[in-house]
Amino acid sequence: MKNIVFIGMMGSGKSTIAKEISKKLNVDYYDTDQMIENREGKTITEIFELYGENYFRKLEDDLVKEVSRCENSIISTGGGIVLNPENISLLKENGLIIYLENSVDDLVSRLKEESSSRPLIIKNDLHTKIDELLKQRENLYKKDADIIIENKKIDTTIEKIFNFLS
Ligand code: S3P
Repeated sequence: MKNIVFIGMMGSGKSTIAKEISKKLNVDYYDTDQMIENREGKTITEIFELYGENYFRKLEDDLVKEVSRCENSIISTGGGIVLNPENISLLKENGLIIYLENSVDDLVSRLKEESSSRPLIIKNDLHTKIDELLKQRENLYKKDADIIIENKKIDTTIEKIFNFLS
């Protein structure tokens, strides 16, 4: 099986859905943000605060080089993974890329509770910032995706993914 790689905005449901799919398929699951936090022994927010975004992006790029060599795995990526085109080329070599698409309103309502763990949206007006990031990135997500799935309801999205894979 090719890897299944989830891309999309913060709050799009990538980790939740990727984890669920990996459980159902009984295959390995990798979460690039989680792996960075584990290896650095710091949260993403701390990494941004202490070393800045460029440092984080370098860790992210290095990690993509590593996880893209996996097989039979489900990979959840950070929302900014598409900013470096090399990341997507590597992930595509052995992976099916699924973009989880959401409206700004849906992203905002999911992120309201947890924005403090997302450095790019801390201290910013949530709606404005998400709208701005989505405008910058939407074309990249869509261009890079093999499949685009609107994620309104997690169960329905998982069902759609399994229908696609069967
Ligand atoms: C980011 C998304 C985050 C995390 C970091 C930067 C982004 O991951 O990688 O805060 O640039 O959109 P999630 O998409 O898993 O929240």
